[in-house]
Amino acid sequence: MESPTISRFSLVMCVLLLSSSAALAQTTDSGSAYSRAGADSCIACHEDAATMSIFKTPHAVPTDARSPFGAGQLQCEACHGPGGEHAGRVRRGQERPPVIRFGAGTATTIGEQNGVCLDCHSGDAGFAWHGSGHDDNEVACADCHQVHIAHDPVLQTANQPDVCFDCHQQQRSQALKPYSHPFSEGKMDCSGCHSTHGETTDLLFVRQTLNDTCFECHAEKRGPYLWEHAPVAEDCSTCHDPHGSNHPGMVSLRGPMLCQTCHSQADHQSFANGPDGLADGTASKYLLGRNCMNCHTQVHGSNHPSGSKLMR
Ligand code: HEC
Ligand code: HEC
Ligand code: HEC
Ligand code: HEC
Ligand code: HEC
Ligand code: HEC
Ligand code: HEC
Ligand code: HEC
Ligand code: HEC
Ligand code: HEC
Repeated sequence: MESPTISRFSLVMCVLLLSSSAALAQTTDSGSAYSRAGADSCIACHEDAATMSIFKTPHAVPTDARSPFGAGQLQCEACHGPGGEHAGRVRRGQERPPVIRFGAGTATTIGEQNGVCLDCHSGDAGFAWHGSGHDDNEVACADCHQVHIAHDPVLQTANQPDVCFDCHQQQRSQALKPYSHPFSEGKMDCSGCHSTHGETTDLLFVRQTLNDTCFECHAEKRGPYLWEHAPVAEDCSTCHDPHGSNHPGMVSLRGPMLCQTCHSQADHQSFANGPDGLADGTASKYLLGRNCMNCHTQVHGSNHPSGSKLMR
C-alpha cells in the first residue's frame, strides 16, 4: 500500500509546481485580494484528508486549462473566492475574514454559490436549470454535488438515490416498499426517468411525456396495439407507482380494486347470486383469485384479432 505521507507530499509538490504558473496575488474590484501562493497558502492550514481529496477529482487536472487547477486559473479561490485576507495573519480575538462557503446554512447566499459553479458550467446545467423546481426553491449545486471527494455520489448510480432522498422523503419511503424499481439494489437511479437539472417537460422527465419515458426501457409496452386499453395509452402512472408500491407489479391498488376504480360491477358483479337472486356474499367468478387479470391477461393491450376484451 502507498504510504499516506508520501502521497500527500507528492500532492503538495504538484501544487507547488502549479502555483508558479497561476495568476495569483490579484486584487478584485471589491478590493479583496487573492492569496499570494494560491493553493499552497490554503493547504498550509487546510491539509486535512477531506479537503485534499479534491486532487483526486476532475477539478484538479493541471493539463485542463478550464479546470480550477489548470494553468492561469485561481485554484482553490476559483470556487472559494479571494482568500488573501482569510489566509493572512489574524490578531488574537479578531475573526478570520470569511471566504465563500457552500451548502445550506452558510453565510454565502445560494445565488452567489451557484453563480460560482455556473461561471464554468452554465452549459452543463443547461438553460432549463433557470426556473426549474430546484432553482426556484434555492437548491444549491452543492446540495447535490460534492466536489472534495474522488467520486461524487450523485453521479454514481448506486449512491444517487440517497442524495435525492435527503429531501425527497416520500420517494424514499416508496422505494423501500416490496415492489419497486431496483433502487435499493443499486441497479437504477433517478436519472433513468428524471433529468435533474431541469427540463421543459413536466416533472423533469427525460422524454417528452411520462409514457415516452417508460418506453425508454419498456419498449414492448409502446404497441401499437390492435386493441388498446385507454388508460395505458394515456398514462402508465394511472395504475403504477413508479417509485414503489406494496402490490406485485408495482400497481397502486390490488386487483380487482384497481380495475374497479374505473369499471363498474354492472356486467361483472363482485358477488355471486344466491337462489333468491340476491348477492349471497361469496365472490363471483369475476373475482376468481381476486384478480380480473386471470381472464383479462392483456391489460396493456392486445394484438389478437379477437382480443377486444383484452383476454388474449
Ligand atoms: C492561517 C491559516 C489559514 C489559511 C492560510 C487559510 N485558512 Fe481557511 N480557515 C482557517 C480557519 C482557522 C478556519 C475556521 C475558522 C473560521 O471559520 O474562522 C478556516 C475556514 C475556512 C473555510 C470554511 C470551513 C469551516 O470549517 O469553517 C473555508 C472554505 C476555507 N477556510 C478555505 C480557505 C481557502 C480557500 C484558503 C486559501 C485561500 C484558506 N482557507 C486559507 C485558517 C486558514
Ligand atoms: C474554473 C472552472 C470551474 C469551476 C468554478 C467549477 N468547475 Fe466543475 N468542472 C470544471 C471542469 C473543467 C471540469 C471537468 C469537465 C470535463 O472533464 O468535461 C469540471 C467537472 C465537474 C463535474 C463533473 C465531475 C465528474 O466527476 O465527472 C461536476 C459535477 C462539477 N464540475 C460541479 C461543479 C460545482 C458544483 C461547482 C461549484 C461548487 C464547480 N463545478 C465549479 C470546471 C469548473
Ligand atoms: C437536484 C440535484 C442536482 C442539482 C441541484 C445540481 N445537479 Fe448537477 N447533476 C445532477 C445529476 C443527477 C447529474 C448526472 C446527470 C443527470 O442525471 O442529468 C449531474 C451532472 C452534473 C455535471 C456533469 C455533467 C456531465 O454531463 O457529466 C455537472 C458539471 C453538473 N451537474 C453541474 C451542476 C451545477 C453547476 C449545478 C448548479 C447550477 C448543479 N449541477 C446542480 C444533480 C444535480
Ligand atoms: C470546484 C470548486 C472548489 C474548489 C476548486 C475547491 N473547493 Fe473547497 N469546497 C467546495 C465545495 C462545493 C465545498 C462544500 C463541500 C463539498 O461539496 O465538497 C467545499 C468545502 C471546503 C471546505 C470545508 C468547508 C465547509 O464549509 O465545511 C474547505 C476547508 C475547503 N473547501 C477548502 C478548499 C481548499 C483549501 C481548496 C484548494 C485546495 C478548495 N477548497 C478547492 C468547492 C471547491
Ligand atoms: C436540497 C434538497 C433537494 C435535493 C437534494 C433534491 N431535490 Fe428535487 N426538489 C427539491 C425541491 C425543494 C423541489 C421543488 C418542490 C416542489 O416544487 O414542490 C424539488 C423538485 C423535484 C422534482 C419535481 C420537479 C417539478 O418540476 O415539480 C423532481 C422530479 C426532483 N426534485 C427530483 C430530484 C432528484 C432526482 C434528485 C437527486 C438527483 C433531487 N431531486 C434532489 C429539493 C431537492
Ligand atoms: C421509472 C421512472 C422513475 C424513476 C426511476 C424515478 N421517478 Fe420520480 N417520478 C416518476 C413519475 C412517473 C412521476 C409522476 C407520477 C408520480 O408521482 O407517481 C414522478 C414524480 C416525481 C416527483 C414529483 C412528485 C410530485 O408529486 O410532485 C419527485 C420529487 C420524484 N419523482 C423524485 C424521484 C426520485 C428522488 C427518484 C430516485 C429515487 C425518482 N423520482 C425516480 C417516475 C420516476
Ligand atoms: C431506465 C430504465 C427504466 C425506465 C425508464 C423505466 N423502467 Fe420500469 N423497470 C426497469 C427495470 C430495470 C425493472 C426491473 C426489471 C426486473 O427486475 O426484471 C423495471 C420494472 C418495472 C415494472 C415491474 C415491477 C415488478 O415488480 O414486476 C413495472 C410495472 C415498471 N417497471 C413500470 C415502469 C413505468 C410505469 C415506467 C415509466 C414511469 C418505467 N417503468 C420506466 C427499468 C426502467
Ligand atoms: C390499467 C392499469 C395499467 C396501466 C395503465 C398500465 N399497467 Fe402495467 N401492469 C398492470 C397490471 C395489472 C400489471 C400486472 C401486475 C401483476 O403482476 O400482478 C402490470 C404489469 C406491468 C409490468 C410488469 C409485467 C410485464 O408485463 O412486463 C410492466 C413492466 C408494466 N406493467 C409497464 C407498464 C407501462 C410501461 C405502462 C404505460 C405504457 C403501464 N404498465 C400501464 C396494469 C397497468
Ligand atoms: C383509469 C380507468 C381504468 C382503469 C383503472 C382500468 N380501465 Fe379498463 N378501460 C378503461 C377505459 C376508458 C376503457 C375503454 C372503454 C370503452 O372503449 O368503452 C377500458 C376498457 C377495458 C376493457 C375492454 C372493454 C370493452 O368493452 O372492449 C377491458 C376488458 C378492461 N378495460 C379491463 C380492465 C382491467 C382488467 C383493469 C384492471 C387491471 C382495468 N381495465 C383498469 C378504463 C380503465
Ligand atoms: C372468469 C373470467 C373473468 C374475470 C375474472 C373477469 N372478467 Fe371481465 N370479462 C370476461 C368475459 C368473458 C367478458 C366478455 C363478456 C362479453 O363479451 O359479453 C368480459 C368483459 C369485460 C369488460 C367489457 C365490458 C363487458 O361487460 O363486456 C370489462 C370492462 C371487464 N370484463 C372488466 C373486468 C373487471 C374489472 C374484472 C375484475 C373485477 C373482470 N373483468 C374479471 C371474463 C372475466
